[in-house]
Amino acid sequence: MNKIPVCSLGDLSTGNVQVVEVEGQSILVVQIDEEYFAIESLCSHADISLESGEIDESDRTIECPKHGSLFSLETGEALTLPAIKPVKKFPVSLDGENVVIEL
Ligand code: FES
Repeated sequence: MNKIPVCSLGDLSTGNVQVVEVEGQSILVVQIDEEYFAIESLCSHADISLESGEIDESDRTIECPKHGSLFSLETGEALTLPAIKPVKKFPVSLDGENVVIEL
């Protein structure tokens, strides 16, 4: 696994989405309070970016803006139709002020 710093804590705010490009992959980084999540940016249903999807902070989900599938930020799992396949989920850690993703 490669640990790659992708942004700083100052780039994030709770409930918002930060898009980062890492080794040719577009990844969404989401902060909810003191937790950090990273998932691939493309919906598994029709290759639409989840970037503008609505975050549910209490359920830890993001809603696809195209057809409304909910994806778990914790596991990447597709929780509602029409998507049935998960999106990739990446482990996130902090290194000082840096947000680090494992690829
Ligand atoms: S493109 Fe995301 S649910 Fe259809």
